Amino acid sequence: MSQDYNSLYHESLDNPEGFWAEQAGAVDWDRPWDRVLDDSDAPFYRWFSGGQLNTCHNAVDRHVDAGRGEQDALVWDSPVTGQTRRYSYAELQDQVSRLAGVLRDLGVETGDRVIVYMPMVPEAAMAMLACARIGAIHSVVFGGFAGPELAKRIDDAEPRVILSASCGIEPSGMVDYKSLLDEALERSDHAVERCLILQREVHRCELDADRDLDWEAAMAEAAPAACVPVDANHPLYILYTSGTTGRPKGIVRDHGGHAVALLWTMRNIYGVAPGEVMFTASDVGWVVGHSYIVYGPLLNGSTTIIYEGKPIGTPDAGAFWRICETYGARALFTAPTALRAIKKEDPEGEFIRRYDLSKLRAFFLAGERSDPDSVRWADRHLGVPILDHWWQTETGWAIAGYPYGLEEMPVKIGTAGRPMPGYDVRVLDEEGEEMPRGELGNIVIRLPMPPGTMLTLWGNRERHRDGYLMRYPGHYLTGDSGVVDEDGYVHIMSRIDDVINVAGHRLSTGRLEEVLSDHPAVVEAAVFGVRDATKGQLPMGLVVPGSAFDGDDKALVAELVQRVREEVGPVAAFRQCVVVKRLPKTRSGKTLRGTMRSIANGEEWNMPATIDDPAVLDEIAGYLKR
Ligand code: COA
Ligand code: AMP
Repeated sequence: MSQDYNSLYHESLDNPEGFWAEQAGAVDWDRPWDRVLDDSDAPFYRWFSGGQLNTCHNAVDRHVDAGRGEQDALVWDSPVTGQTRRYSYAELQDQVSRLAGVLRDLGVETGDRVIVYMPMVPEAAMAMLACARIGAIHSVVFGGFAGPELAKRIDDAEPRVILSASCGIEPSGMVDYKSLLDEALERSDHAVERCLILQREVHRCELDADRDLDWEAAMAEAAPAACVPVDANHPLYILYTSGTTGRPKGIVRDHGGHAVALLWTMRNIYGVAPGEVMFTASDVGWVVGHSYIVYGPLLNGSTTIIYEGKPIGTPDAGAFWRICETYGARALFTAPTALRAIKKEDPEGEFIRRYDLSKLRAFFLAGERSDPDSVRWADRHLGVPILDHWWQTETGWAIAGYPYGLEEMPVKIGTAGRPMPGYDVRVLDEEGEEMPRGELGNIVIRLPMPPGTMLTLWGNRERHRDGYLMRYPGHYLTGDSGVVDEDGYVHIMSRIDDVINVAGHRLSTGRLEEVLSDHPAVVEAAVFGVRDATKGQLPMGLVVPGSAFDGDDKALVAELVQRVREEVGPVAAFRQCVVVKRLPKTRSGKTLRGTMRSIANGEEWNMPATIDDPAVLDEIAGYLKR
C-alpha cells in the first residue's frame, strides 16, 4: 500500500474495504470477519461483521504474550497527592484480570452495563479494561458532573454495577465522589445492584453494607477472569455527550472498528511506536481520554500517562513539561484551553526552558478551536510541530488533522489540517448543494464513516437517525460549520446548534436553560456562549422572573449559579447571569440567542428583520454591554 497522505487518503475512499481490511491485520482476531463493510442496514453501517475479538486482549494480554510484560504500560503521576505509580504490562494484566474477576463475581455478564465514575487514578483505566475483558459495556461519567447528571446516565444506561472512588482532588479542594454517587442513586429510578468503591487515603468514605464493596478487599479475594471474545460490533462503551436538549446522548462504540482505527491513528497520526510514551492531558471522562489516555496507547503497546493534575497551579505552568521530561513523552496531546492557561502564566516560555524536551516530537491539540496566537507561542518555545486536529465524541478519532507519523504535511495555522482516511468531508449549503472551496457551510461526512465512529445512540436509534443522518441523506451531520480551503485544509468555525464548548468541555445550553427555568421564581431563561480568553467560551444566562417576584436580583442570580453547580456540575463554569424583564424574540416566538451572543461578544450586529419588539433587544443590549 502507498504511504503518502494523498494516495492513502484517496485509496481509503475509493476502496474502503481493502484499505481497512489491511489495517485490521494489526489487530488480533479470534475469528475473522465475514464482511469488512456491512451496509445491509444502511444508513447504519457496520465494520468487520462476523469477526470476533476482545479489546482488552489487544490492549493488554497480547503485549505480554509478545514479550512486553516488563515494559511500562501505565504511569500515574499525581501532583495533587504527591504520588506516582508505574504498572508494567504484566502488572496491568494481573490487575485488570482480577478486577474483571470481581465484576464477574458480582454477576456482571457480557452486554451488562457498568458505570465508571472516578477521578484520574489508574483504577479508572483498569475499570474500563476489566469491563472490556468480559464483554461488559462501560460508561465513564466525568467527575465534574454533579449527582443529577450522573442519575440521568444511570437511568439511561441501566448499569448493573457502578465503580467509583471515595474522592477526587481538585485544586479548589476535595471532591466527594461518594456523596455525589449516593445522591445520584437516590434520584435515579434504575436500581443498581452493587457499587465497588476505591477508598483513597486522603479521604475515606462510609460504605453501605448492603450495596457497596471495598475495592481493595474485593481485589484481594478475586480470581482472574480471561478475555471473552465478542462480536466485532459488540458495544465496548457508551459515552454520553451533550446534545441540544437536556437529555444526554449515549454514543456507542464497538470493539472491532474501534481497535482497528485507533491502532492506525497511533502510528500514522501521532507517530508513536510501541514502547514509546504518549502523554494525553485530558480526563478519562471525555472521548480524548478514552481514545488516547486508555485505548490508543495500550492497543499500540505504548506507555500511557494518567495525570491527576492541571496544566497550571499543580504546582506551576511547567507541569506538562515536567511530565514530558520525566517519562520521555514522544507526543503530547491536550486541549487549547490548557495551552492558553499555560501561556498566560508563562508568556516568555521560561518554564519550558527548564526541562529537557528533546524526546518530544509533536504537540497535538483538539477539543475546541485553537487560537493562532497560542499556537504560534507554542511553536516558538517548543520547536516541535503544533498540530491541531478536529474530532468529536461521535467519531472517536480525528476527522481532520495531520498524518504526522506518515509524513510532515505543511502546517496551516487556523485550520485543523486535512481529512483523515475514510472521512469524505464535504461542505453543504442549507439546500444540500456543495459549497465551492473556501466558502462557509455545514460540514458533513459522506457515508459510510470509517471504522471506530459511532455505532448508534444507546437505546435511541431514532435520535441517531434524526439528529445526524436525516438533514442531508447519505451524509453524517457533524454539527459544525466551516470551510474547506483551496488546499483541502478544514477550518472549523462554529457549532450550528446550541452546543457550547467550555474549556474543551461540550455542554448543552438547553440543559442549562432547563435548570434555570426550573427555579420557582423564573418563568423564562436563555443561555448562550460568550467568548472567554482562557476557556474559549463561557455560558451566559438571562432570566425573566415571574410577575410575583419581588426579591433581590443579586440573590436570585447567586441561587441560580449554585443550582447549576448542583444540578449540572462545576464543569459548567456558570457564573454570569442577568435578570431581565423580557427576552428578545422573533415574531414567531423564537428567542434571539445568536444576536444576544454577538452583542455580548462585542461583535457587529443588526436588528433582525423578524424581531417582534426592537425595544426589548435594545434593553438587553444595554444589560449585556454592561
Ligand atoms: N472532578 C470534579 N470536578 C472537576 C473535575 C473533575 N474531574 N474537573 C474539573 N472539575 C471542576 C473544577 O474543580 C472547577 O471547579 P470550581 O468551580 O470549584 O473551581 C470546575 O470543575 C471547572 O473546572 P475546569 O474546567 O478544569 O476549570 P479550572 O478553572 O479549574 O481550570 C484550566 C482551568 C484551563 C486549567 C482547565 O480548564 C483545564 O485544565 N482545561 C483542560 C481541559 C481539558 O483537558 N479538556 C479535555 C477535553 S480534550
Ligand atoms: P466533543 O464531542 O466534546 O469532543 O466536542 C466536539 C466538538 O468540539 C466539535 O464538534 C467541535 O465543535 C469542537 N472541536 C473539536 N475539535 C476542534 C478543533 N480542532 N477545532 C475546532 N473545534 C473543535
